[in-house]
Amino acid sequence: MNPQTFDLINPKDISDNMISLIGDKWMLVTAGNSSCFNTMTASWGMMGFLWGKPVAQIFIRPQRYTFEFTEKNDFFTLSFFGEEQREALKICGSTSGRDTDKVAETGLTPAFTKDGNVAFNEAELVLECRKMYVDDFRKEAFTDQSVIPAWYKDGDFHKVYIAEIVNVWKRK
Ligand SMILES: Cc1cc2nc3c(=O)[nH]c(=O)nc-3n(C[C@H](O)[C@H](O)[C@H](O)COP(=O)(O)O)c2cc1C
Repeated sequence: MNPQTFDLINPKDISDNMISLIGDKWMLVTAGNSSCFNTMTASWGMMGFLWGKPVAQIFIRPQRYTFEFTEKNDFFTLSFFGEEQREALKICGSTSGRDTDKVAETGLTPAFTKDGNVAFNEAELVLECRKMYVDDFRKEAFTDQSVIPAWYKDGDFHKVYIAEIVNVWKRK
């Protein structure tokens, strides 16, 4: 992450409203390294405090190509953008890295953290996250069973990732 573009900030200094930041602005979830990574748009997620650490939580369906990367890697990043990148986020949320070069299609340029994780130079805010807890949503655990026909007709329950937010960069 270029220090001329980004300031490293304390997670407690993220000032955005999380519900609109994640739900309305969306984010790119990216995992892998400089030789092989994938990214996808996500608008479901949470941020908060757990096990004495600032954490982020994301939800990824198993059929996503990105899933292979979040499963294999210990880290992922979350990148948030301004409205000018809405088209790029639509592309990353409607095509798969299995058959599309999302970097070429969107014009986004990869940025690398010291640990070799991948985010994007065009982002306004980047979170580097270290996986701590991973599990599937389970059918029998839903106290509101109406969620299942609404969201999981094919039984493709999201995998839940809770991760420590280890670094946060904000565009200068
Ligand atoms: C606005 C938006 C939000 C999305 N949120 C999620 C999400 O939170 N979890 C998920 O698994 N897929 C989500 N998706 C779907 C993936 O982004 C989409 O299936 C993408 O093409 C997967 O790419 P991949 O196969 O390269 O991983 C979302 C798509 C859009 C457009």
